[in-house]
Formats: sequence, C-alpha cells, structure tokens
Amino acid sequence: MAHKVVLIPGDGIGPEITEAALDVLAATGVPITWVLEEEAGMRSIEAGGEPLPEKVINSIKAHKVALKGPITTPVGGGFKSVNVSLRQALDLYANVRPSYSLPGIKTAFQHVDMVLFRENTEGLYIGEEKYDAETGVAEAIARVTKKGSERIIRYAFEYAKFNERGKVSLVHKANILKKTSGLFLELGREIAKEYPQIRFEEVIVDNMCMQMVTNPERYDCIVTTNLFGDILSDLAAGLVGGLGIVPGANIGSEYAVFESVHGSAPDIAGQNKANPTALIRSAEMMLRHLGEHFAADALRKSLFEIFRRGEFRTADLGGSTPTNEFGKRVAEKVAKNIAKPRWRTQV
Ligand code: NAI
Ligand code: MG
Repeated sequence: MAHKVVLIPGDGIGPEITEAALDVLAATGVPITWVLEEEAGMRSIEAGGEPLPEKVINSIKAHKVALKGPITTPVGGGFKSVNVSLRQALDLYANVRPSYSLPGIKTAFQHVDMVLFRENTEGLYIGEEKYDAETGVAEAIARVTKKGSERIIRYAFEYAKFNERGKVSLVHKANILKKTSGLFLELGREIAKEYPQIRFEEVIVDNMCMQMVTNPERYDCIVTTNLFGDILSDLAAGLVGGLGIVPGANIGSEYAVFESVHGSAPDIAGQNKANPTALIRSAEMMLRHLGEHFAADALRKSLFEIFRRGEFRTADLGGSTPTNEFGKRVAEKVAKNIAKPRWRTQV
C-alpha cells in the first residue's frame, strides 16, 4: 500500500529543492501518494487566505506525515511564522537535527557527529511580545513548562539509548535565567539519573558556541530550549558544510513534518542553484519514519558516493551543478543502487 504524505513545497528555493527531492524519492521505488498543499505563507496570503490555512493543518492531521520546504517569515512586522504556528498546532515538540561530517566535503573538522534536539513548542520562541509606546518598553515572554521540558529531554535520552550514543549535553543559561533555563536544567539533571549508561553534561550556551567551533568532535547528543536550539543548529550546520546539507525532523506524538534546517534563501531563489541535499536528507529521515529503511539506506549511500567522487556539486559547495541536475544525478544513483541486490544482505 502506498504511503500518503502531505507535500508543502513552500516558497523561495522551496519549490526547486522539492522537485529535486521528489525525483530522488521516486527513484527509491517506495510508493508514495502525495497530497499537495501549496498554499501556506506568502503564497496563501497572495491568494487571499490565511498564512497557515486550517486546510493544511487538517491535511497533516489526516495523513500524519509531511515533507515541507521552507516558508518565508517577514522580519519585524507582518504575520507570525507559519513554521512556528505549524509546530505548535501539531504539537511537534521535538526538532531533531543531525549534523555529521560527510565524505568528500572538506571542512575544518572531519569527525563531527552530533544530533541536536531542540524543544520546538515553547520558550522565548513563542513570540508573545508587547510594546508600550508610551514607556518605550518592549517585552517578550519565555514560557518554559515542566511537561514541555521533560518530553524533549526524555526524547534526547531515549534517542541516545536506542542508538547507543554515549553522551547528552544539555545547553542552558541558568546562571542568568534562573527560572526558565533553571527549570530546564533541573529537569535534565533529574532525568539523567534514569539513564546511568549515558554521560550527562551541562554547558552554558555562550561557552557552548565557543566549544562547538573549536572542539565540535567531542559532542554527541545536544538538548536545549527553542531559541538556543535554533541558533546552535545553524552553527552546527556551518561546521559540516553549511545549511545546504543539514536535514531536520519535527516530531510529535502523533504527527511528523520533515524539513531542512535552512530557510527560503531569498538571495538565491529562482536561480536553480540551491543545494537540495538538506531536503533530500530530510526525506531520508522521513523514509526511516515510514519504516522504509532499505530505501533510506540506498539514498544515503548514493548521496555519499556522489559527495565522495565530488563530480557534482552545487554552488554552495564550490561546484556549478544546478539544483535540478543534482537531483537527477542523485536519483540515477539511487535507481542503480536499489537495483543492486549485492549489498542488501550486508551486515
Ligand atoms: P536561510 O537559511 O534561508 O539562508 C541563509 C544563507 O544560507 C543564505 O545565504 C542562503 O542563500 C544560504 N542557503 C540556505 N539554504 C541553502 C541551500 N539549500 N543551498 C544553498 N544555500 C543555501 O536564512 P535567512 O536568509 O535568514 O532566512 C530567509 C527566510 O527563511 C526568512 O524569512 C526566515 O524566516 C525563513 N526561514 C524559514 C525556515 C523554515 O521554513 N523552516 C527556517 C529558517 C528560516
Ligand atoms: Mg533557524
């Protein structure tokens, strides 16, 4: 039976990278029926609708899984981020963002392998703000709850346990934000006791930035609150080759939305030069979520072969392969690898 998956191409580079990811997914042979939801963000507003129409939310509620391109959010004024609203509406509390060194991609460090778990529904990121023009004071609420913190911290530990990873680093700023960051840290210390086989460490966020750029190979699983996770995941992407290659998943107890770490990249939109790798790898995470491990392995192997050979590279990685061509090359490789039975039984 075909999987039913909601497809949100988004805007900016979204439609271009989505097309490339669809080519690659088609080559895996996994039967997927796409439920196309084009209208979200600016595209929806231009069509006279809401930034995040009910229809899109209901569609994901009905089919449980979505693959999503980036959606532009206006800076300063304008509507609330569609991405944030979607994560809240579907209670996608865990934002999982793996950053590891890829073969053939030269960076300052060759053995980075970290998975960042970002709390995705609360913290300062909720955008509950007010401005009083009379006093000239702007304020924001950072709401951290026990329930919200416990579930993401536990998610990180469970992931570490299941995947036999050795360490969880909790990133905080509890020296200053004693209540909000303090609660998150306190719960982390408690939960860590349930996992004696996994090392637990606490790192203050400013120090973490320095540690990550000087010594990233010592990190494994990282769990943190929403805004810190947003910032640190772009930093982590920079360590392994940039935003063009790092995937992500937004996971809740009922629904899952797979999307890159990067945004809509308006500076290169419409030029057929964006790197679709991040979305292709988000699709790999989606295949695993759907239980299609063989196809996911073939996809990963194919992408690694292409990077190792270095023949086809998009502009962000110093090459000149256009987005659509890169997608086609990966798709060809996937089709070949899927057809080869010899590595199917490898252990
Ligand atoms: P961005 O991630 O879109 O771009 C940052 C830089 O990385 C740009 O120079 C861009 O060209 C480059 N880049 C990003 N993805 C790339 C790719 N696949 N291939 C090659 N280069 C790539 O961040 P920016 O410019 O701060 O935000 C643009 C818009 O995206 C904003 O409206 C923001 O709100 C939105 N955004 C949406 C997200 C989502 O839909 N989940 C996530 C992050 C930002
Ligand atoms: Mg971000």
